Amino acid sequence: MWGGRFAQGPSAIMAEINASIGFDRKMWRQDIRGSLAHAAMLAHVGIIGPEDEAAIRAGLEKIGQEIEAGKFAFDTSLEDIHLNIEARLTERIGEAGKRLHTGRSRNDQVATDFRLWVRDAMDGLAGQIEDCMRAFLGVAAEHTGTLMPGFTHLQPAQPTTLGHHMLAYVEMLSRDYSRMKDARIRLNECPLGAAALCGTSFPIDRHATAAALGFDAPTRNSLDSVASRDFAIEFLATCAICATHLSRFAEELTIWTNPSFGFVKLGDGMTTGSSIMPQKRNPDAAELVRGKTGRINGALVGLLTVMKGLALTYAKDMQEDKEGVFDTAEALTLCLAATAAMLRDLKPNLARMAAAAGAGFSTATDLADWLVRELKMPFRDAHHATGRIVAKAEAMGVELAGLTLTEMQEIEPGILPSVFGVLSPASSAASRTSYGGTAPTNVAMMVKFWQEKLA
Ligand code: ARG
Repeated sequence: MWGGRFAQGPSAIMAEINASIGFDRKMWRQDIRGSLAHAAMLAHVGIIGPEDEAAIRAGLEKIGQEIEAGKFAFDTSLEDIHLNIEARLTERIGEAGKRLHTGRSRNDQVATDFRLWVRDAMDGLAGQIEDCMRAFLGVAAEHTGTLMPGFTHLQPAQPTTLGHHMLAYVEMLSRDYSRMKDARIRLNECPLGAAALCGTSFPIDRHATAAALGFDAPTRNSLDSVASRDFAIEFLATCAICATHLSRFAEELTIWTNPSFGFVKLGDGMTTGSSIMPQKRNPDAAELVRGKTGRINGALVGLLTVMKGLALTYAKDMQEDKEGVFDTAEALTLCLAATAAMLRDLKPNLARMAAAAGAGFSTATDLADWLVRELKMPFRDAHHATGRIVAKAEAMGVELAGLTLTEMQEIEPGILPSVFGVLSPASSAASRTSYGGTAPTNVAMMVKFWQEKLA
């Protein structure tokens, strides 16, 4: 493709390090789509004749069928998907194939193909995020009032409900969804026609190719068009944040399914056994969601590192932009699907969760709040008195509600029998009616909010 200036071909190692066909063949559809749009535009403005355009179109369509059927012979010496397809085109249709590359370069071609690929991945993942939100919402709707412990530091903090906990993830995923949509807006400008880096002297119509490829507009600066990969970085960042969210739920599932917790059970379809320990039921899918987050976060740092310090415009370093993106899209697709599947498979153990909701003096805040409300104590004093009551209960080996009124009055003489009304986990949860709080009435309202939003 550049033989004019060279007396010899590249050495074997040069060819090997240079080639991206091993992975960028994934973009064959996008490459053909881009070339079809480019050829149609070239013909429309009169740079190539209509017969050439017809031949190019027919040739590219045939090549698409060859690749689809697994009959295309990818050639490493042709470096990448762009040169592979172009060479095959010329092989098939002759002269006209050699006219296709007029007014463009592989630099704007690869930027266009990659944007198209990432855009498709964004659309697919956004749909999957929505599905995962529905799966969380399904559990939430059934368990608006199902008590469970709310943790901080993974220590019992205050009683909450399973529904409220599920809706926390719906909120996180809704932001991931909007991040994906938002990143798509910035991605959706077409670099095709920036050519090598400075644009072209041919009277091309970049608005036409942009529109044909579903972009909102052509990019405004040719140097930026071939030099920038922030659309891919933003995609990876969005995926990394989403995977990080999923990894937290995955971690919770590994804890909740441990028999010492026993909060939930996963069925045969979403767990694995052990070849030596017959009793085992391992949450491998959850562990892999947690684990794959590592490579997704790594891909983000990888591409940031490739791009940092690169002088404008294109440099071959940028060929390293693709594998992490392809791998991330595949990994996050699996993570979202597995998370949704686990949610739909989940069997909560209501008794275990309710018992745990009351353990660890989880209603101590309610006792302190009662002292403030009923005895008009300053909160700091109420906190101290409650701490002493907790210490006493702990020493006696009982929960707060297991103390007698007299035992409490030995520490705070003003305490009245009505205090027992706030010490159960159910009353604690029900009392948290502040906007966004844990009360089942609130949770039911928020379930409705999300059901309407996702309808
Ligand atoms: N295979 C290259 C890549 O993925 C395509 C662009 C090559 N451009 C060039 N001037 N060598 O980045």
